[in-house]
Amino acid sequence: MSTAPSLQLDSAALADEYDRLGIRQFNHGLQLLDALSLHEGERVLDVGCGTGRLTESAAQRVGAQGDVLGIDPLPLRVERALQRAQGRFAARVGRAERLADIDDAHFDVVYLNSVIHWIPDQPQALREAWRVLKPGGRLGFTTMPADVPHDLHRVLHALIADDPQSQRVEIGAPNPLTRDSAASLLSSLGFELTLNEIRTIDDAFDNVDDVLTFSRASSFGNFLSSLEEPDVAQLRERLADALEAHRGPRGLHLTRRMIFVTARKPLAH
Ligand SMILES: C[S@@+](CC[C@H](N)C(=O)[O-])C[C@H]1O[C@@H](n2cnc3c(N)ncnc32)[C@H](O)[C@@H]1O
Repeated sequence: MSTAPSLQLDSAALADEYDRLGIRQFNHGLQLLDALSLHEGERVLDVGCGTGRLTESAAQRVGAQGDVLGIDPLPLRVERALQRAQGRFAARVGRAERLADIDDAHFDVVYLNSVIHWIPDQPQALREAWRVLKPGGRLGFTTMPADVPHDLHRVLHALIADDPQSQRVEIGAPNPLTRDSAASLLSSLGFELTLNEIRTIDDAFDNVDDVLTFSRASSFGNFLSSLEEPDVAQLRERLADALEAHRGPRGLHLTRRMIFVTARKPLAH
């Protein structure tokens, strides 16, 4: 069953922290842009653009003749994206499931970097992507695999496993996919799959507070949001101990796996 995250928990501080710590999503997002082979002059839509760091790279790749739009439901993130854009790309508030005011067959490329697992109605979001893509246009997304959890999520699940009160605590995104479910979703909508693979990403964090701040900022406040402050503090202590097993030369080393998917809207359909 799909679940909607809250879009009411974001704050200026979280948006700023995301801009600082979201370099991790940016780095794997660059791999997604490589896989999508953006060309000069293309029109690109970044769905769930956040604070616009990757949108800026897309705009550099398509150049002055190209056109890039980022949309995101969180006004504070869009505000930061617009500060970054300085007119080189457009950004506005919007949701994947309803790409209002965008004409059919307008974009060459639509991508969602670390976004689709937050979307409750993924078929509707991908139908909208299909609608706004030109025939032959490319779709790409990265997402966390439901069946290969991040190190951090495994550690946290182990910490709360024997506490029935904590079983519903928000740890990862609510609607993760697998390679298989991503493939069947796309093919049910008519897309031709061109890439569907899991890549390994090694992150390093200075300390446990960086890990927690990164998780809160990346989840726009949803991470652990149902816990009271004393329970978060207690979990932080236990997490700090558990993460010592992950200490390495660059700090706390945590591995993530990400599914990289690209697909094409057929020329004739
Ligand atoms: C982890 S951030 C990724 C931001 C950006 N794509 C990046 O690579 O840095 C997830 C983003 O998904 C956005 N998001 C959540 N639900 C969404 C929806 N229904 N439609 C579009 N974006 C959504 C959030 O607002 C947030 O900015």
